[in-house]
Amino acid sequence: MARHLITSAIPYINGIKHLGNLVGSQLPADLYARYLRQRGHEVLFLCATDEHGTPAELAAAKAGKPVAEYCAEMHDVQAKIAEGFGLSFDHFGRSSSPQNHKLTQAFATRLAEVGLIKEVTEEQVYSVADGRFLPDRYIEGTCPNCGFESARGDQCDNCTKQLDPTDLIDAHSTISGSTELEVRETKHLYLRQSELKDDLAAWIESKKDWPILTTSIAKKWLTDGDGLQDRGITRDLDWGIPVMKGDDVWPGMEGKVFYVWFDAPIEYIACAQEWEDAGKGTDWARWWRTDKGADDVTYTQFMGKDNVPFHTLSFPATIMGTQEPWKLVDYIKSFNYLNYDGGQFSTSRGRGVFMDQALELLPSDYWRWWLLSHAPESSDAEFTWENFQTDANKDLADVLGNFVSRITKFCRSKFSEAVPAGGAYGPAEEQLIADLTTRIRAYEGHMDAMEVRKSAAELRAIWVLGNEYLQANAPWTTFKTDPETAAMQVRLALNLIRIYAVLSAAFIPDASKSMIDAMQTNDDTWPTDVAAALNALPAGHAFTVPENLFRKITDEEREEWAARFAGTRDAGE
Ligand code: 2FM
Ligand code: ZN
Repeated sequence: MARHLITSAIPYINGIKHLGNLVGSQLPADLYARYLRQRGHEVLFLCATDEHGTPAELAAAKAGKPVAEYCAEMHDVQAKIAEGFGLSFDHFGRSSSPQNHKLTQAFATRLAEVGLIKEVTEEQVYSVADGRFLPDRYIEGTCPNCGFESARGDQCDNCTKQLDPTDLIDAHSTISGSTELEVRETKHLYLRQSELKDDLAAWIESKKDWPILTTSIAKKWLTDGDGLQDRGITRDLDWGIPVMKGDDVWPGMEGKVFYVWFDAPIEYIACAQEWEDAGKGTDWARWWRTDKGADDVTYTQFMGKDNVPFHTLSFPATIMGTQEPWKLVDYIKSFNYLNYDGGQFSTSRGRGVFMDQALELLPSDYWRWWLLSHAPESSDAEFTWENFQTDANKDLADVLGNFVSRITKFCRSKFSEAVPAGGAYGPAEEQLIADLTTRIRAYEGHMDAMEVRKSAAELRAIWVLGNEYLQANAPWTTFKTDPETAAMQVRLALNLIRIYAVLSAAFIPDASKSMIDAMQTNDDTWPTDVAAALNALPAGHAFTVPENLFRKITDEEREEWAARFAGTRDAGE
């Protein structure tokens, strides 16, 4: 048994996330966490809301609420939706927590102690109309790198380049729209991450097993020199973590806060403290401090590709820079983008299907299955309603649901609602056991390697094996001449339902639970030995015929949903 720390990129507080966000971090992280728990590992799976910075302030202003109140409400909304999707976080924290305030301030203080913080008087964009500086998302304009017209002051959504507000061409204030902008001087703290360039390069170089997507982005920023420029870690904003040195306000930093991208990843650590303080576990340091037992932890982070520079360079620079024994990430699983029906999902533009809306349409397992089985791993992927309908109906209703329904109903009608006795395996069963064993080993390999699409494909193939077995051996025909053999076939198939429930639990936890409940068993043992697993439910074991596991998505529904979601909804609701 190993110990696994798993974090998902923490979603911004500004509104409900769309399905593209979900499949880019939280959902695959949940898949992995659930799988590792099933395999007997000790798992700490953490996520939180990212509550500081301009996204939060802008959304709260739009909602007409004080930002603290807005964040508290939206945290609960996001937590409830996460629960609706079965995201099995051990704790869903908040980057605005007192724990994160303290820890972020401690990190900055320590970095200053070791000489990695410098004070810089810099020029920032000041909006005369708004009477304030315009950091990050308070300013938009054209990206100097790719020409994208709605690039924000901190990052271009199109090419992922990290930007400074002064880099933007034809900029305007997102508060007032004013273009009456001038450059004024203001003082900020900078993390001297360029000092750590060699250490970071060596560290990235040592990660031979990381996904190409992760290392290619990291190396690009390293070699361009772009990602390793010293980085401003404070902002002229009201909402955020006050810039303190020890217990005092940092001289010259009065009224300023830490930059959201400085405190957000530190929340991964603070979240473990919140988890402990909430009484959900003990000894957070055992997961995060290598001097307190975390050296035997495997730490995996999940995120979309736009987050990779911060997690491969900036956050490791923060951690390494302290020269303290903090746990560094062992593996970064990153994802490309999921597009929506010929365009991009977009929170700021309200385009696509959002998590709350998805749950209103169908149970979460439909979404979990489709999203994971189409995860944008090797390239961007696209959600279309046609593909969603076709694949969900085929995989979930025709293959898995049909198998379960067919065999339980047949057993009830010809035998009883108990596993039938009699008969002995023949070559078909031996072959099935061999095929299942091969595929289950492959499935384990893909799941261990976090190959999400390959895992889904293998699981689907495992479901198909059951259907093919029934098709080829037709217990309903066998029954007429050889009821003993039919009983053996049915017994095997009923046992397969339990095996399917166990293997599928990480992908479709609710349907898996329905299968386990229908089989009236608590036995969720992993089918390491397939032949033994096929005997888990012995002759005489009672079961019930479950409700249809998955109904089909109709053409009318597909058309209605495609039309309903063709427009956009107000962002930041
Ligand atoms: O892209 C995002 O949604 C960010 N809020 C992710 C932050 S991840 C981390 F570093 F905390
Ligand atoms: Zn760009």
